[in-house]
Amino acid sequence: MKTRADLIQEAKKNAALEAVKHVKDGFIVGLGSGTTVAFAIEALGERIKSENLKIMGIPSSYQAFQLAVQYGIQLTTLDEHPLIDVTIDGADQITPKLYLIKGMGAALAREKIVAAASKYNIIIADESKRVNVLGENNQVVPIEVLPFALSLVKSKIMVLGGIPVVREGKGKLGPIVTDNGNVIIDANFGLIQNPQDLAIKVKMIPGVVETGFFTGLTDIAYIATESKVEKIQK
Ligand code: 5RP
Repeated sequence: MKTRADLIQEAKKNAALEAVKHVKDGFIVGLGSGTTVAFAIEALGERIKSENLKIMGIPSSYQAFQLAVQYGIQLTTLDEHPLIDVTIDGADQITPKLYLIKGMGAALAREKIVAAASKYNIIIADESKRVNVLGENNQVVPIEVLPFALSLVKSKIMVLGGIPVVREGKGKLGPIVTDNGNVIIDANFGLIQNPQDLAIKVKMIPGVVETGFFTGLTDIAYIATESKVEKIQK
């Protein structure tokens, strides 16, 4: 008997396998972060072995870097290849308009840079990430912040109507530190009717490096269950 956790893993893999079909020989591929993307990186590794697919990856995090190495994906940098053919990434919430909240893996800043450098962005997720309005189910918005600015950013988020919580590490005392040496504030804004407007206001706070709002960046989302994959297009 399969558990709910098994079914979610199957759903993530199904979405990843659809996304990987977009990757062609010679592509520069942006590698997002998270447990769903891990399936895509593994599948790319399998295509490299079975089809002799020639690609180069640009990882958005230390996790993606390690997985790319593990699955034999040759790596490059944005300095060498400033234009990425396709990026595959996960998400924490996805609306029908393809507005996203990302960053529960604390990789949002590099993920957004990789997405902005991409000709085509594909988001992959299991069904649980689908919402009508961002912020449903008390989903927080991850915000990467310079440690020096932490108090200021917390107070400005409260002025914008959010409840800020500094993300604590697991297996480590104190706040988590991102791949860029910064900290993460998880801000609960309740239901977010206008994410583009709020994203600009949060990004304008001095000390905010990046927000987990991804609006207008995604071309396609593959949202899967264990038995089917739905494609949502812009
Ligand atoms: C990391 C991210 C991830 O893509 C997002 O958290 C989804 O992760 P998962 O596929 O593990 O649910 O934004 O910063």
